[in-house]
Amino acid sequence: MDPLAPLETLFDAGRGDELPLPRELAALYGPLRFPLREGRSRVIGNFVTTLDGVASLSAPGLSGGGPISGSNPHDRMVMGLLRSVADAVIVGAGTLRSVPHHLWTAEHIFPALEGPYRRLRAALGKSDSPLNVIVTARGEIDPELPVFRSGRVEVLLLTTPEGARRAREGGLPPSVRIGEVEHSGNGERIGARAILSAIGPLRKGAILLVEGGPRLMGDFFAGRCLDELFLTIAPQVAGRDGSDERPGFVSGVRFAPEHPLWGTLEGAKRAGSHLFLRYRFASEE
Ligand SMILES: NC(=O)c1ccc[n+]([C@@H]2O[C@H](COP(=O)([O-])OP(=O)(O)OC[C@H]3O[C@@H](n4cnc5c(N)ncnc54)[C@H](OP(=O)(O)O)[C@@H]3O)[C@@H](O)[C@H]2O)c1
Repeated sequence: MDPLAPLETLFDAGRGDELPLPRELAALYGPLRFPLREGRSRVIGNFVTTLDGVASLSAPGLSGGGPISGSNPHDRMVMGLLRSVADAVIVGAGTLRSVPHHLWTAEHIFPALEGPYRRLRAALGKSDSPLNVIVTARGEIDPELPVFRSGRVEVLLLTTPEGARRAREGGLPPSVRIGEVEHSGNGERIGARAILSAIGPLRKGAILLVEGGPRLMGDFFAGRCLDELFLTIAPQVAGRDGSDERPGFVSGVRFAPEHPLWGTLEGAKRAGSHLFLRYRFASEE
């Protein structure tokens, strides 16, 4: 693969402490800062959508982020960077089902930068890989998937008591921790606050990365639990004709016009015609 060109920084609000990026990552991304407050983790999200806001084509074999971003290497590089600073990556079972062979590690999404990603984790004093947290109400998951079997990531399955029973009966390996959380009263959903508390005590300044999908992301916005969103805009128009769902990065919950959620631009970068935006939201965590 040709070496990546650095992202062009269009705007950077420059808040927070600068993380010790190895020189390869600093050259590609520029400084990466997070306001890391004591006694509290920072919850960030990462998504890619088309110009018309589509986050998933919802078609067999085409439902992951690749067809949305055009398998853009800069998008994968940024995903890897965010995973390499994360203590945990949180995904819903729908996302796991759409990319069943995935592991939520930096090197899995962008192997070319494995060395720098690992050095960054070491400099931050973090374990080799972020905890992979899978959220499911039903607990109907395939226990043979690599995320559960590879031995390369620690996994926490967060589910309802009924889902936990189903998952145990399904034959998950004993290395997978199962966290039982009562659902929130909103159907079978587990509230975002309950998800965060079930992940357990975290080191000072921990970063939790929510990679969706849209329903899980909707629950994090609904719980006012998301501090920041890293949003890649891919320069394609996917369209919608009603024959499939084609969600944006939030589904299952609505905010506007009753309770609109407005963000504040923290950063904007560019690689070719892809935009890499960073928005801050007022979380109540
Ligand atoms: N463009 C992007 O950046 C991006 C990122 C991520 C995903 N995606 C795409 O989005 C699509 C999936 O969308 P989705 O909305 O179905 O994704 P999702 O939120 O990952 O999956 C929904 C499922 O996850 C579980 N879940 C999510 N939130 C839950 C909660 N609060 N409590 C309990 N269970 C919860 C439930 O699983 P059970 O049914 O097992 O109970 C639910 O049916 C896929 O095509 C995926 O590739 C795109």
